[in-house]
Amino acid sequence: MNLPPSAQLQLTETGELRHFLSIDGLPKTLLERILDTANSFVVVGNQEVKKVPLLRGKTVVNLFFENSTRTRSTFELAAQRLSADVLNLDINTSATSKGESLLDTLRNLRAMHSDMFVVRHSQSGAAHFIAQQVTPNVAIINAGDGRHAHPTQAMLDMLTIYRHKASFDQLKVAIVGDILHSRVARDQVHALTTLGCQDVRLIGPNTLLPTAAEELGVTTYNDLDKGLEDVDVIIMLRLQTERMDSAFLPSASEYYQAYGLTRQRLCKAKSDAIVMHPGPINRGIEIESEVADGEQSLILNQVGYGIAIRMAVMSMAMSGQMQQRQIMEANQ
Ligand code: CP
Repeated sequence: MNLPPSAQLQLTETGELRHFLSIDGLPKTLLERILDTANSFVVVGNQEVKKVPLLRGKTVVNLFFENSTRTRSTFELAAQRLSADVLNLDINTSATSKGESLLDTLRNLRAMHSDMFVVRHSQSGAAHFIAQQVTPNVAIINAGDGRHAHPTQAMLDMLTIYRHKASFDQLKVAIVGDILHSRVARDQVHALTTLGCQDVRLIGPNTLLPTAAEELGVTTYNDLDKGLEDVDVIIMLRLQTERMDSAFLPSASEYYQAYGLTRQRLCKAKSDAIVMHPGPINRGIEIESEVADGEQSLILNQVGYGIAIRMAVMSMAMSGQMQQRQIMEANQ
């Protein structure tokens, strides 16, 4: 297969998912398969018994080196709903605080016959590094690394659009706010353009837009009102202040004046436009409460779809790992 190295690392020799590290370079057919699989898992949450046996007997370890509410809890629920045994390592009380290296921690967890690591880390590239260093039959799922990638968030956003809108190639999608520091925006752009979206708009002040954004196949806007004109989907982003190493903005209130999504501004978009936000939201900084809680908002639906997407990715990666192992054994 003619794929970039980051995509090759994620796939088996026959193109099945075995790690999920970033959307960059993954084929459209695979993204569509993730969406279809996740869509079939949405109903599991409504069942009396919220479980399917796909990961029975497998051990999933959640390794969150950075804070999280939504991603960590939905990964845990997803693994439980797939019937896996789940271990949540508390990094604050683990031997990491005694100076143990990341790789030594992983080697010890691997020695417990773990099958999958779900990793969030503040360093960009941490998940790729682990996937290259850990033995080949452990699946690595990136739960967010620095400002690089957050592929399950991007795919749950795609599932939200897929379930509430027409096909991707007909849509106008606006991503608003701190694009520069956002691992979510980066993977959303890759996912939207791969799935066929022709009109992706990145809206924000120049200081928070990436240089050479047009090379990604998107259009940039500094004016929010102009950028929102006639769009079907609005994705608001949080100001990632923890990743800002200098002053990118005059003040939060001036930012809200220029880039906050208010009811008045929402009128620029199509009347049936949907409003999304990966969370955590900052009311009165990125978004007005009436919009965040309004009828066009799907912010809480996104959280629920996160369980289905994570179930899809985990079950597909585990099956890809098993297939890869069989190929390797047959070649020995
Ligand atoms: N969207 C997201 O990644 O939220 P958390 O930081 O709470 O996991």
